[in-house]
Amino acid sequence: DGTEKAKAGRIEASCTVRGSINHDEYFHVSHIVRPGETLSSSGHESRVGGKGANQAVAIALAGGTARFYGTIGKDGLWIRERMMRFGIDVEGIVVSEELTGRAIIQVDEQGENSIILFPGANYSDLHEQSFARHPDGPGWFPTSTHLLLQNEIPLPATYYALHSAKAQGAVVVVNPSPLPEEEEMRRFPWEKVDWLVVNEAEARGVYGAVARRGMDEVSSQRQSQKKASSPASMSTRELISSLSAEPAFVSTNIVCTLGADGVLAFVPALHRRDNSLEAQEFIQLPAAKLLEGVKDTTGAGDCFAGYFVCGLMEFAESAAGRRGEDGGTEGGGKREMREKDLERILKVAVQAAGMCCERRGTIDSYPSRSEVEARMA
Ligand code: ADP
Ligand code: NA
Repeated sequence: DGTEKAKAGRIEASCTVRGSINHDEYFHVSHIVRPGETLSSSGHESRVGGKGANQAVAIALAGGTARFYGTIGKDGLWIRERMMRFGIDVEGIVVSEELTGRAIIQVDEQGENSIILFPGANYSDLHEQSFARHPDGPGWFPTSTHLLLQNEIPLPATYYALHSAKAQGAVVVVNPSPLPEEEEMRRFPWEKVDWLVVNEAEARGVYGAVARRGMDEVSSQRQSQKKASSPASMSTRELISSLSAEPAFVSTNIVCTLGADGVLAFVPALHRRDNSLEAQEFIQLPAAKLLEGVKDTTGAGDCFAGYFVCGLMEFAESAAGRRGEDGGTEGGGKREMREKDLERILKVAVQAAGMCCERRGTIDSYPSRSEVEARMA
């Protein structure tokens, strides 16, 4: 399995996840509370949440090495304990004086929910302070082969992680969720992102923001031509290829999840290295066939992202292992990723994300790698 592969290969891939970690508090209610109303809940559950933590858990369940960097409060020590039990390296969890980030979730009898997010310790800058105080000096960042980011921590912390990991040659994967403000998206260093993982709404949001920057620069006649295809009216394929054509995205592979329709990947960064593959730049896979129907899609995107990154990590390990076998003759050394490699990775991620929709809950519904493989066999 993954661990054995890691030992056989020349590198041991690991992924730093710098992101959010929350105490998700569920209150089961007859209906979502109305203005002025006081309502008793019929049940309560405390769970581990936050997109960063969710994705780290998905990597671990997929069989990958995840190192989580985030901030909790003293009230959240149990969360660190649970993360550790998933096999996640929790040394990068800082305990601050602030309260742990929290999601207050009302779930009504129809399964409808309503959420208040309290960022809490996720927005502390303790991490960047501790990076600056590191014995190896300011600018220190944990060394991993991969970096996975979301958008539930301050953007400067995201930038710090992104620039540091990229400077170390890590593969950078960004799931910009929830979407930053338009202005922030225009300034985001997309050119440093190797893999953009988005859902359809996020893809439209990112394109809307970065294309607007382009439109501001073109003359007014050109602008009216562009208006013909506004992000809202474009097909997903049109949207993704237009986004990819934006200067900041020329070396970014885009993976767009389509909910019940599966996933669409656009991989110009792979093709640029291998002209023979240019005919087909899109890879589309249908969603997994579910045995039990859809119960709860919460966190499906995070499950997908974690499994996807674990697939990239396994590929990096096997590519490096192959280099050993081949005597290092191929190209720049490492074996390049081909479409069939990516397809295999996506297939596993789609299966895992689908299976998490069959059960209630977020990380509690994420399947293990062996469950995923049993279903695919
Ligand atoms: P997000 O949760 O970020 O909005 P999506 O809704 O696109 O992301 O879901 C992520 C992935 O989860 C999809 O690519 C798909 O593989 C799986 N998935 C989501 N909804 C369903 C569904 N109704 N049936 C099967 N798979 C699903
Ligand atoms: Na679920």
